[in-house]
Amino acid sequence: MKNVLVIGSGAREHALGATFLRSPQVDRVYCAPGNPGMVQSGIRLVDIAENEFEELAEFVGQKEIALVFVGPEAPLADGIVDFLQERGVQVFGPAQSAARLESDKKFAKNFMLRNHVPTAAFATFSEYETALVYAQNLSFPLVIKENGLAGGKGVQIVTEETQLESALHKALNQDGQVLVEKYLAGEEFSLMVFMGGPEPVFLPISQDHKKIFAGENGPNTGGMGAYSPVPHITSQIVEEARQTIVAPTVAGLHKEGLEYAGTLYIGCMLTTRGIKVIEYNVRLGDPETQVLLPQLTSDFYTAVTDLIAGQTPVMEWQREEFYLGTVVAAPGYPIHPKQGLQLPQLPNNVFYAGVVSDGEHLLSSGGRIFALVEHAPTLKEAQSKVNATLERLALTEFYYRKDIGFRDL
Ligand code: AMP
Ligand code: GLY
Repeated sequence: MKNVLVIGSGAREHALGATFLRSPQVDRVYCAPGNPGMVQSGIRLVDIAENEFEELAEFVGQKEIALVFVGPEAPLADGIVDFLQERGVQVFGPAQSAARLESDKKFAKNFMLRNHVPTAAFATFSEYETALVYAQNLSFPLVIKENGLAGGKGVQIVTEETQLESALHKALNQDGQVLVEKYLAGEEFSLMVFMGGPEPVFLPISQDHKKIFAGENGPNTGGMGAYSPVPHITSQIVEEARQTIVAPTVAGLHKEGLEYAGTLYIGCMLTTRGIKVIEYNVRLGDPETQVLLPQLTSDFYTAVTDLIAGQTPVMEWQREEFYLGTVVAAPGYPIHPKQGLQLPQLPNNVFYAGVVSDGEHLLSSGGRIFALVEHAPTLKEAQSKVNATLERLALTEFYYRKDIGFRDL
């Protein structure tokens, strides 16, 4: 029996840990640093932060950890995979060089250009004046992006010239480098593949809901809910993505010596001129993972270790039902989420994120508090089940969207 360590602390990592625990090969699952809500699934918490590589490596040795799965982007960008691999640890995720596909947008966009992966036209700047002139010559709306990691909050859609100055200053002040990009109109979807073997393994398609308010309105968040599969992203569209997006990306990684055993998450936009890449991420999506991994019917531990060994695993997913997850957030999210609110007793189909424990109760700590996931033969039923459960709980102070899945309803 094997012990697994998941790095990270959110609902995605809760779903990862719960999925590893379903494997007959897995004995213990640890999560560093995790959150106290995970304990209800049998995950053991490790009081080490995700950027304390030395301590993590020491823990791996002490507890005879057979596999480390890195959840979030920050430790990947900081080189945790290189660090652990040098110490002989089996770890799933990209090396720092490939993690730049997410942590350095300029690098990612130039990678796409070199490798003929369709994406929005763009230019990068470190000076305000030149960026302004370039942007003024584009038509609105256009997109201003910070170059580095920004937790999903580094993108501004600028609809008129009066907003341009402050948007450019904000991005340059945050990062020093700004991307100015053409706006892509269309349907967005999340395409995730596991890499490591000769062929990438496709996960089911899922759809995130990034805006705070119903109908996709208001400011961006880390994600307010997700569902999977996504009927309007047909198998034909996925096949097109395989040929025009995934194939040249994988070939590019191979050519540039950036191959890795890990996740590649491609944010796609289905436009009238074909599918284009909005961004790459090198880790699983959150909240998408919470509706994806519960669909896996084959052994996750075997799949991940096969990928690390350079083999393509057969991963099996349920095909009968829709999975839908709604994120419950603290009031005030995403600007000033209220802290320290007591949570009621929640059912087992919950993945926890921003919670702390006072010894007796879980309290809110952060913006997104937990995700509740249901499944049903129709998307409508799945949504109704989630909403009915959330309604029954005494969540008066908390906020959630009731329209997750609306695009396919
Ligand atoms: P990102 O942080 O790159 O995922 O961007 C956050 C969100 O901004 C995306 O999920 C899209 O909804 C939107 N976005 C980013 N780039 C573009 C673009 N070029 N055109 C339209 N929307 C975009
Ligand atoms: N759900 C969007 C992300 O994980 O980046």
